[in-house]
Parts: sequence; structure tokens; C-alpha cells
Amino acid sequence: MEPLIIGVAGGSGSGKTTVVRHLIDTIGGDCILLLQHDSYYRDLKHLPFEERTRQNFDHPSSLETELMIRHIKALKEGYQIEIPIYDFTKHVRKDETRIAEPRDIILIDGILIFSEEELREQMDIKLYVDTDDDIRLLRRIQRDILERDRRLEHVLKQYEKYVRPMHLEFVEPSKRYADIIIPHGGKNEIALDMVNALIQEHLT
Ligand code: CTP
Repeated sequence: MEPLIIGVAGGSGSGKTTVVRHLIDTIGGDCILLLQHDSYYRDLKHLPFEERTRQNFDHPSSLETELMIRHIKALKEGYQIEIPIYDFTKHVRKDETRIAEPRDIILIDGILIFSEEELREQMDIKLYVDTDDDIRLLRRIQRDILERDRRLEHVLKQYEKYVRPMHLEFVEPSKRYADIIIPHGGKNEIALDMVNALIQEHLT
């Protein structure tokens, strides 16, 4: 049986990770494989560090989506894959990879996963986590400083120059492809219960 592929999209800081964690906790981690589009950011080790920090990481071309699509197709055919490991503090791929086996459910998350047709076509259920922009920005500032080793000034500059315009150009319009829009972020219990029921139905 081919795996059920569920896409979780939404702007930066919208709460995709919370939705994904909730699904893994309720359905059970053993039958789920999480594939994050973030793992497929292109390796920038050929550029000096300063130049890497100035890249537009919110444009679809910054991700090796073609490799992710190959991986999803391989999983559907029953093959294992080697997922790249991305380092957000240095903007490079690590030398090591993570081996992953096919599972009954494959969860895919990322800001841009609905904006590429071929990737979109791989998904059976598409969820979009919709969260107010001010809340997303607050979460992003906190996350980037605490987890990605960034300075406030840089986070704000990057947001204004790239994150916001790319969100308006690519992420927000891709909401139209969603089967279900989850308002108020990842802690929306009612929406998550509905999504769970839908998945259980698909599995039985
Ligand atoms: N990004 C970055 N530096 C890189 C690569 C990516 O700052 N070297 C940023 C991009 O600007 C993009 C963001 O990472 O906006 C994508 O991650 P995001 O969706 O914010 O993270 P998640 O934790 O997956 O999302 P959520 O908060 O919804 O759980």
C-alpha cells in the first residue's frame, strides 16, 4: 500500500511544527515519517559566510525541491532515502545524512511546499496553518535568536527584505491549494481533531 502523504504549509512561524508534533503524538510516531522541506535548503558552503547570510531563503529557488520530489517518489516505491541535514547557523548542509525508511504516513512541512506543482501533486491531504502576521513575526524573532544564532537587527532586516515579500508572493497565495485551512495556528484543538479523524478514516 502506498503511503498517505500529508502536506503542512503555512508562513514562517505559523505553527507548522506544533501541528506536525500533535499529529505524530496522536497517531503514533512508528507509522509516520516527517520530511521537512527545510532539510533540502541548498548548500552554500562555496560562499563566504557573510554572503551566505544575505541570501533570499524564502524564494523557491533556495531549496532543492527536485531532490525532495525524488525522495518522495522513492518512498512510495518502497525504497529508503538519505535526508540531508541542514545547519541554519552556518547555512550549509552537514556531511552526514539521515537514513529514512518508508512508513504508512509521510508528513511534509514547509513554507513553500504548495507553491511547486510537482511537489503539490504528491500530496493526498493539504493543510495550511494560518496565523496572524504579527504573531508569526514575534515567534520568528524569538526562534531565530534562540535557536538559529541570529542577531535582532539581522532578523528584522531579513524579514523586511525577503521573508515578508516572499510570503506575499509565494506562501500566502499557495493557501488556495489547501484542502483544510487551520486558523489561529498550531494549537487549534478542534481543527486538529478533525484532521486526525480524516487521517484515521484514510488509514482504515
Ligand atoms: N531560513 C533562514 N536561514 C537559512 C535557511 C532558511 O533564515 N539558512 C529561514 C527562511 O527565511 C524561512 C524559514 O527559514 O522563512 C523557514 O522556516 P520556518 O517555516 O520559519 O520554520 P518552522 O519552525 O519549520 O515553522 P513553524 O514556526 O511554522 O513551525
